Amino acid sequence: MRFKRLHVYVISLIITGCIVINVVIIDKHTDGTEMEKDRVATLYDRKGHHLRQIRLLQERETTVGPESDQPPHGVQQNKISDTLVRNEKPSIEHRIDVIPEQALLRGKLRKLKSYLTIGIPSVKRQGDMVYLYDTVNSLLRASSDAEKNDFVIVIYLAQQDQEWIQEVLLKIDELFPTEIESGVIQVISSSAKIYYDFTYLIRTFNDSAERVHWRTKQNLDYAFLFKYCENLSTYYINIEDDVIPAKGFFNSIKSFIGRQSVDWFCLDFSSIGFIGKLFHSSDLDLISHYLILFSYFQPADNLIDYMKKITTQFKDIRHKPSLFQHRGVVSSLRDKKQLIIDKSFKDQIAVSQKKYVIENPKASIETDMIAYDHYVPNSPYLVGNDLFWAYNITKGNYYKIIFEKPVNLTKIYINTGHEKKPHDILHHGEVKIGTSDLKCNRTESVADFHEKFTLDESIPNNITCLVIEVKEDQKEWLIIREIALFH
Ligand SMILES: *[C@@H]1O[C@H](CO)[C@@H](O)[C@H](O)[C@H]1NC(C)=O
Ligand SMILES: *[C@@H]1O[C@H](CO)[C@@H](O)[C@H](O)[C@H]1NC(C)=O
Ligand SMILES: *[C@@H]1O[C@H](CO)[C@@H](O)[C@H](O)[C@H]1NC(C)=O
Ligand SMILES: *[C@@H]1O[C@H](CO)[C@@H](O)[C@H](O)[C@H]1NC(C)=O
Ligand SMILES: *[C@@H]1O[C@H](CO)[C@@H](O)[C@H](O)[C@H]1NC(C)=O
Ligand SMILES: *[C@@H]1O[C@H](CO)[C@@H](O)[C@H](O)[C@H]1NC(C)=O
Repeated sequence: MRFKRLHVYVISLIITGCIVINVVIIDKHTDGTEMEKDRVATLYDRKGHHLRQIRLLQERETTVGPESDQPPHGVQQNKISDTLVRNEKPSIEHRIDVIPEQALLRGKLRKLKSYLTIGIPSVKRQGDMVYLYDTVNSLLRASSDAEKNDFVIVIYLAQQDQEWIQEVLLKIDELFPTEIESGVIQVISSSAKIYYDFTYLIRTFNDSAERVHWRTKQNLDYAFLFKYCENLSTYYINIEDDVIPAKGFFNSIKSFIGRQSVDWFCLDFSSIGFIGKLFHSSDLDLISHYLILFSYFQPADNLIDYMKKITTQFKDIRHKPSLFQHRGVVSSLRDKKQLIIDKSFKDQIAVSQKKYVIENPKASIETDMIAYDHYVPNSPYLVGNDLFWAYNITKGNYYKIIFEKPVNLTKIYINTGHEKKPHDILHHGEVKIGTSDLKCNRTESVADFHEKFTLDESIPNNITCLVIEVKEDQKEWLIIREIALFH
């Protein structure tokens, strides 16, 4: 043997009752050189039971024998090909430090601690489907003035794109001047320094390089956001920039926290991913550090799930019904289309002024009408109270709903206009139905319509698409308020 293997115990830190022992394994060669071979973090619960061992360096050896420095004959040293560059990956010392005054772009730091911080990381998405404003708006709308004094909404613009940041800031200034002034809304950004070199990441779960990159960045973004928020309030809840809160969500959260009788690490207010996860703000520093350390292994929601167990919360503590509903159609990961509806979100009626609360068949929406602002075409079709608002309405304009697979409908309901904008209805329209192909180029007229459309008999079977067509130019704008397809 040409070297002596040393095990150096570097740090042992206590995580709320859980012990982590980090061991650095160093090979000391006869010529005096030392080489770090691995780092192993071993986690024990408070009774000293072994929970899990995590290897932090990637030079895993296939050799099984004790401390052999030669791979067995004929076996290639099994280095994972896309290993991290040694000096670039996060080490146990790696932390993200945040100076709140520097991170803050809009809003102000309040003198008194609030009860709750609502953290919303946001990145640029493909297309102009900006749900962020609507999410913030619905958080504010679902709360009373007194409640607003007790929480802070932190919007983290997690993208190094100054043009985009300025664009969002302009919009936020325009929409929420009083909330910026009072410090209910704080908008922050980070420098690119919080990221390490992503060139060599391990493709765990056989995820594509792009996806690994995306979720690693996301972990570091959370780490930054959590650090910023650590002193703002007693509790912290994470949501995303495309959710709908239930009415009175703040009081529901407060009373749920009050009802807990045992120690907890995380409370769940939604069953989807990293939405509606609530922590003690005093844990945020630790969570931030933990997410950095394991940033390239797994997505944040998995990591948090493990951390829950590490901190000896072995069961989920979930508020039912969900208080946050996801409505994203275009995910922030390019090309990853998703339409996730949280099944336990029961409070739709409370936030929705639509007539019906139903989940329409899966479909894609195509239109040649120009959306005003964030009133995007998908809105009337999705759960939630949003609408599509378009201008320059001319004869021949269409709004196509193309189903993922043929459907049988029992009732079709379409409503246009809004009580606040009674003129923005469809004045001369027509509904057409296609049954022959999934491209929607052959359709048959069903009926003309003015403002509202209801049909609950003689609906053809195997419908592949449904089209709302404009029959005459109109100078008024058009609001499509609601589309409900019963199936
Ligand atoms: C990993 O992904 C690639 C490409 O997506 C696929 O061809 C391969 O079969 C996958 N391997 C495993 C073990 O799933
Ligand atoms: C939070 O408060 C602690 C203790 O005063 C301080 O060390 C830390 O830097 C603060 N964090 C932030 C992000 O301001
Ligand atoms: C309105 O639509 C017509 C026809 O689609 C187009 O020619 C015209 O440029 C549009 N006007 C504006 C202001 O977008
Ligand atoms: C619609 O109903 C017809 C008649 O009951 C049936 O043959 C057909 O399979 C149904 N189509 C779908 C998409 O469910
Ligand atoms: C429908 O449209 C597609 C693509 O736009 C085209 O390839 C196809 O030939 C069209 N089919 C009919 C029946 O017009
Ligand atoms: C609808 O599709 C089903 C098969 O999915 C078929 O058996 C049935 O005849 C179709 N009905 C009509 C009206 O086209």
